[in-house]
Amino acid sequence: MAVSSKGVISVVTTRVLLAVFLLQSVCDFKLPTVQADLEVGYYENTGLCSGAEAVVAAVVSAAFDADATVTASLIRLQFHDCFVQGCDASIMENGTFTERTSPPDLTVRGYNVIDAAKAALEEFCPGSVSCADIITIAARDSIAILGGPTFPVLTGRLDGFPRGPDSPDPSDFLPGPNFTIPMATGAFAQKNLSQVDMVNLLGAHTVGVAQCRFFVDRLYNFLGTGRPDPDLDPTYGDYLRKICPDTTNSSDPSLLTNVALDFKSEFKWDLSYFTNVKQRRGLLRIDDELGTNTATSPHFTQIGSSNLLFNKEFIDSLTKMSQIGVITDPALGNIREVCEIAIAPETISMSFQLEEEVLEAHSAF
Ligand code: HEM
Ligand SMILES: *[C@@H]1O[C@H](CO)[C@@H](O)[C@H](O)[C@H]1NC(C)=O
Ligand SMILES: *[C@@H]1O[C@H](CO)[C@@H](O)[C@H](O)[C@H]1NC(C)=O
Ligand SMILES: *[C@@H]1O[C@H](CO)[C@@H](O)[C@H](O)[C@H]1NC(C)=O
Ligand SMILES: *[C@@H]1O[C@H](CO)[C@@H](O)[C@H](O)[C@H]1NC(C)=O
Repeated sequence: MAVSSKGVISVVTTRVLLAVFLLQSVCDFKLPTVQADLEVGYYENTGLCSGAEAVVAAVVSAAFDADATVTASLIRLQFHDCFVQGCDASIMENGTFTERTSPPDLTVRGYNVIDAAKAALEEFCPGSVSCADIITIAARDSIAILGGPTFPVLTGRLDGFPRGPDSPDPSDFLPGPNFTIPMATGAFAQKNLSQVDMVNLLGAHTVGVAQCRFFVDRLYNFLGTGRPDPDLDPTYGDYLRKICPDTTNSSDPSLLTNVALDFKSEFKWDLSYFTNVKQRRGLLRIDDELGTNTATSPHFTQIGSSNLLFNKEFIDSLTKMSQIGVITDPALGNIREVCEIAIAPETISMSFQLEEEVLEAHSAF
């Protein structure tokens, strides 16, 4: 609605006043006007969308019934969102040059579940619940569905503005399967998370899968030695070699075969991941090293001995992770209508328009 040039002053003035009024009422209606902190039960407390968390829970539960593997994927999706630019739903943007098209995110799944929850919430209370919060809630619900703890999560995040060409590259922040403990510790430190947080959070590998290509080097030619990783239990190694054959052809489809991260316990949030790793049945190099590295193994052994302790430590560290780079200031983020499509700052384009109108009002004199 561009203002027609050389309009009558009073008309322009009315429009400016109207724009200011609209701007204010839009802000009052949708967004807090002051920067708020995250809180447990934000949508209940503010009355913005009571029942929002129940809507997400229902969608996640239905998605699990249709495909049990999706819950683990949703847990990983939160990790990958938070480690790149913060927990701002930047991972959801689609199209070229987005996080989703970068190597570390090519095996992230569960985007459609976040979309489904968002669509349900847009019906239930339009324009109120951020994609960033939906990701957080969906991961929490996934842990519970898999037999893990139920726990409160912080909410009140806004979604990020569209990524640009200078936005962070996921490969610079997400640790790879080959990372050693010092390398991975560095990646977590970059996000203000300690090595203890890292050990706790890697307990999430109690569920889900990894493709052969992420560990096949450990089965045949570890670090160029022409031999398997000596840390790998030989029987477990034989089992894995049957699933992931030796190949020099990088397009061999066997490299994409999924294998349980937690041997025989891919769908259960339990302590068997810790037991398996201790018995040299950790699938990824990072899993194996958690149990053998002298810096990490004491804490790893400790949390691996008690469900209660593991869950408490995990929730603690996950809560920290869920606060990385969050946006609560309405000048820096907003609430998307569709999680794939980030929205450029509305307030900025409106104030540009106001400026134009004011300039026009002046030039009319
Ligand atoms: C040093 C840190 C980490 C490394 C190197 C790492 C590496 C990986 C790799 C390579 C996969 C397999 C991906 C695939 O083939 O689809 C994977 C899966 C997974 N990761 Fe991690 N990860 C790390 C930390 C974490 C953290 C902090 C979490 C969550 C709190 C997490 C949760 C998961 C889950 C649940 C899966 C299974 C996903 C699925 O089944 O779709 N990981 N991880
Ligand atoms: C991105 O997502 C939107 C909404 O779901 C969809 O309409 C569009 O086709 C998608 N674009 C790409 C490039 O995948
Ligand atoms: C880590 O903490 C420092 C100091 O408090 C802060 O400046 C920085 O933004 C934090 N980084 C992240 C990723 O939260
Ligand atoms: C891991 O590192 C080894 C040697 O450093 C390399 O040959 C292999 O391709 C790497 N694997 C992955 C999945 O990056
Ligand atoms: C590699 O594997 C792909 C998929 O099976 C196949 O099409 C291709 O011919 C193979 N290349 C070589 C050099 O064997």
